[in-house]
Amino acid sequence: MQEVSGFNPYLRYEGGELTLEGVPLGELAERFGTPLFVYSASFIRERFSQYREAFPDALVCYALKANFNPSIVRLLSQEGAGADIVSGGELYLALGAGVPPERIVYAGVGKTERELKNAIVADILMFNAESRQELEVLNELAGRLKKRVRVAIRVNPDVDPKTHPYIATGMQKSKFGIDIKEARKEYEYARSLPNLDVVGIHCHIGSQILDTSPYEEAVEKVVELYESLTRDGFDIRYLDIGGGLGIKYKPEDREPTPFELAEALEPYLSGVDAKLILEPGRSIVGNAGVLITQVQFVKEKGGKRFIITDAGMNDLIRPSIYNAYHHIVPVRPKGKEKVVADIVGPICETGDFLALDREIEDVGRGDYLAVLSAGAYAFAMSSHYNMRPRACEVIVDGGDVSVVRWREDYDYILAPAE
Ligand code: LLP
Repeated sequence: MQEVSGFNPYLRYEGGELTLEGVPLGELAERFGTPLFVYSASFIRERFSQYREAFPDALVCYALKANFNPSIVRLLSQEGAGADIVSGGELYLALGAGVPPERIVYAGVGKTERELKNAIVADILMFNAESRQELEVLNELAGRLKKRVRVAIRVNPDVDPKTHPYIATGMQKSKFGIDIKEARKEYEYARSLPNLDVVGIHCHIGSQILDTSPYEEAVEKVVELYESLTRDGFDIRYLDIGGGLGIKYKPEDREPTPFELAEALEPYLSGVDAKLILEPGRSIVGNAGVLITQVQFVKEKGGKRFIITDAGMNDLIRPSIYNAYHHIVPVRPKGKEKVVADIVGPICETGDFLALDREIEDVGRGDYLAVLSAGAYAFAMSSHYNMRPRACEVIVDGGDVSVVRWREDYDYILAPAE
């Protein structure tokens, strides 16, 4: 039997078929077609409640960018989650899914005037400002709208999160935030602006972090800043330490739990009299989801075996751009011998692959494969490249199966030109 244990307790083989919350995934593929994303609602609820239990006094703002399916955002909002947003679109989504404005925080280096205005009017909890110019523009817009605006400054603590360089955000050379060494000056500046209330410190050091020590390093620096600002009369009410907790992608990976993070940070946070905010994305939804794809062809070429699937880099781009590993297993294993193959998509690029030199049970035309850990940054980063409609998304919850996004058709893709 193929190894799927430890990714998601609701993902297991039953009666020779891979199931999620007891629902056979091959049957879902036959019913809704492939490529197909299937997410487990119970997993998402449990992950969120682990954060709540580990950090009982904190506000947990789900990072919508990980998976912006409105049903998932609504589910988390109903559980009491806030939202970490990075665009006007995500503001629209969060409000529409019922997230109260007082639970919304807004980061991003390039917010437009229109986006800022809409968030000011919505009266969100806090803007995580990333530059002096942003503070200036926020103040000006707030004045025009006759509003006061709560801000945090996103500080960049220059910590190496030991992750892929594209998703390390808290190092000095990245575009994010304000250098923590320059932060005092910017806090003074923000305080001098009449329409801003300077209420928080924000930092986010990166994503897919499998070890709690970079968090300890960052939080230690942030708490030092907090103490020095408080001594100078700043009323810092929120410490937002971002998201980034990593998940299991490989069978041998060990993912840190929210409890371990809480325990690691406790010594640094115990003297802090401000509300903690967390912004997890991947660790809530990542292993909730799988991508089901169907093998189209198998061929041997140049001494290599290629398993060609109907899911490509337009459906899941992580292997292509981060060289990311996603575990792949047959949905209906037949107990055949293992082969080593490149599992590739149909897109016209050599970089279009789901896995390279992967050992997997021999599969053939028509078989279904499940790509694991596909709940985060998978559909969310999908595209129409090669004029391919984006996939269907389904949520399973106990015995219930709901389509939460229908597969697109060609006319939908062409609509902007009509
Ligand atoms: N807060 C901020 C300000 C962020 O920039 C991010 C992610 C998060 C929270 C959530 O991080 P998480 O808990 O999901 O790690 N596309 C990449 C990941 C990019 C993450 C960007 N920022 C990937 O597929 O690995």
